[in-house]
Amino acid sequence: MKPGARIIGTGSYVPPTRLTNADLERMLDTSDEWIYSHTGIRERRIAGDNISTSDMAVEAIRQALEMSQCSPDEIDMVIAGTSTSDYRMPSTACVIQEKLSMPNAVAFDVVSACAGFINGLAVAKSFIESEVYEKIVVVGCEKLSSVTNYKDRSTCILFGDGAGAAVVTSDRNGRGVLSTFAKSDGTQRELLWIPSGGIKYPYNPDFTDNGSDKLQMKGPDVYKFAVREMYNASVKVIEDAGLDLPDISLVVPHQANIRIIQGLAKRLQVSMDKVVVNLDKYGNTSSASIPIALDETNRAGRLNAGDLVLMVAFGSGLIWASSLLKW
Ligand code: ACO
Repeated sequence: MKPGARIIGTGSYVPPTRLTNADLERMLDTSDEWIYSHTGIRERRIAGDNISTSDMAVEAIRQALEMSQCSPDEIDMVIAGTSTSDYRMPSTACVIQEKLSMPNAVAFDVVSACAGFINGLAVAKSFIESEVYEKIVVVGCEKLSSVTNYKDRSTCILFGDGAGAAVVTSDRNGRGVLSTFAKSDGTQRELLWIPSGGIKYPYNPDFTDNGSDKLQMKGPDVYKFAVREMYNASVKVIEDAGLDLPDISLVVPHQANIRIIQGLAKRLQVSMDKVVVNLDKYGNTSSASIPIALDETNRAGRLNAGDLVLMVAFGSGLIWASSLLKW
């Protein structure tokens, strides 16, 4: 029997500074009432100048290592899901490797926007199932405030900073990732993107004025796509595992918008008490949102051995992904 890839420890970190809807009211033509009723978000966390993406990841991983009782030198691989890397080169994962002294690991990033944690976990699963590596850290970490245009009320109300991590190891008792799925559609990339600052349109100070060095989004189009494809991705991993929708114990969806989450729950015919929601506190933290929610759920004692946990995400690419775990 090939080993499964099981999460044995989780951790999360959000920076202490809060940006509330009331703060945004003072910065822009918006209101707490509009933001909360359209998104479900009350506040988000902002890292500020002194906290980088890797700093947040390190704090989350420290907690996950502690819970899993693993020392850094036991880790074979570090996978960081991020679209807000500390540097353009090298990967944030290599920075994390250095900061946490993990000399026996190979470290690299997975750039999948909000699907970064799920796709990182899928990579970990394949290395564990093929018995190449045994202990892998997967972290979703984002400093979205660094790419948010605080003059654009249609996007800046959504995003926050944070990190969530998991230690994954081989399991021979049938627990772990049962099935995983991912798909993308690059023809839709301009629905949600940062046009400049890469190789095609290198950074230019003028971009700061026109906002093209910051995240731009066609919100309503992304919304429709998210509800449809999160549902399809959820059904796919449940069917691939030979299970049915009512078997699911808990859904941990990407925390983008409460209306998207409620729409998904309705289509899946899952009651909201089985769906983890924390976006009121943190907003959308992209690849960090699922592992932060998973860690909070784990630490609250809501996860029991054998529970079937569905994780599902969508984001810039456009990309969408899902994973079904037997906890
Ligand atoms: N405050 C007040 N009014 C606003 C605000 C605001 N912050 N933002 C937009 N409006 C106005 C618009 O100007 C528009 O006014 P108009 O009708 O006079 O033109 C009106 O509200 C409706 O705007 P819509 O964009 O249609 O609002 P919608 O109800 O679709 O909500 C939202 C916008 C919240 C962005 C929604 O479309 C959404 O959540 N989309 C999905 C986005 C998402 O999840 N993205 C993350 C992907 S993950 C990643 O890769 C990072």
